[in-house]
Amino acid sequence: MKKIIVKSPANIAFIKYWGQRDSKLILPYNDSFSMNLSDCYTLVNLEIYENKNIKQLYIKDYQSENYKNSKDESLNKVLKFFQTTKKFLSKDEEFGFKIFSSNSFPKKAGIASSASFFSGLAMAFTRAFNKKISPKKLSILARLSGSGSACRSIPDGFCWWSKGTKSDDSFAFSLAPLSYWNLCDLVLILSTAEKKVSSSDGHQKAVTSSFFKYRLLELNKRLKEIKNAFLKKDFTKFGKLLEEDALSMHMTMMTQSPPLYYWSGKTIETIKKVINLRKSGLEVYFTIDAGENIHLICQENDKGKIYDYFIRQPEVIKIIKNKPADGTRIIQLIN
Ligand code: DP6
Repeated sequence: MKKIIVKSPANIAFIKYWGQRDSKLILPYNDSFSMNLSDCYTLVNLEIYENKNIKQLYIKDYQSENYKNSKDESLNKVLKFFQTTKKFLSKDEEFGFKIFSSNSFPKKAGIASSASFFSGLAMAFTRAFNKKISPKKLSILARLSGSGSACRSIPDGFCWWSKGTKSDDSFAFSLAPLSYWNLCDLVLILSTAEKKVSSSDGHQKAVTSSFFKYRLLELNKRLKEIKNAFLKKDFTKFGKLLEEDALSMHMTMMTQSPPLYYWSGKTIETIKKVINLRKSGLEVYFTIDAGENIHLICQENDKGKIYDYFIRQPEVIKIIKNKPADGTRIIQLIN
């Protein structure tokens, strides 16, 4: 039996991807920009069998000891992605597989678990077909999984997803390696409940928000400004822009039809605490994905104080400390 184990990071977007201009090819309306996370990752263990009827998916959550056999929509997404991969790599052959996926963090709670899983699976399937493709092509394949942000987990460090003009040029590349800037992402876990509406369903409805066109207009400027702030390592400017963008994405979500409220009361309470902490002189900024949990972006020197403050707050269940990380890697190969 052939076995491939891949480690792939989740990523946190400073400028978000929300809305698809082509929902079949997963083409976004705008460029987005993210950092790979050192301590939020998925291990994808792919076992390959000659019997092509074996197609199984087992998922282990971060707190449990055992893998659960998944026969639901997650397996269907995997089967669809297997066919997409075959087509993308021009392969006719078929093989059986068992996938064992384990996360270092709660899944479907706004920490990009499908990005880490599908980027890992893109690499594992490609390797299983004995194909070597460029990082650019691998990023395109990960995007085609349906979880578009997976394309940003493939390259190393800080990654820019260029929206492109068509499928072949919509991919993510590394803007800087992980050593470029010692930023931290403290993920405050306020709840481990899984979200009820997936991002995929939400993307389709972004255009129904009357706010969305303003978001796209202001994004042109914000994208340029954040790239500049990043190149100058101007953290104050950088933080302000990433916070603005998270709010702008959530305004779109809340004003689309049907509306999407990913925040809870705890999210708002935490936002207020971040603003107060900043007033007291600690430089910390928040960003939120499709879930109620909050990501705090700060610099290495302030990390300890910010951690000590938030770990004492009653609504915080756990804090995951992240540094920038490399992208998707094969960590074991057994032939
Ligand atoms: C809100 O379609 O990539 O995280 O498949 O649900 O993981 P899932 O997500 P995807 O959209 C994620 C959008 C976002 C913002 C972002 O990461 O840019």
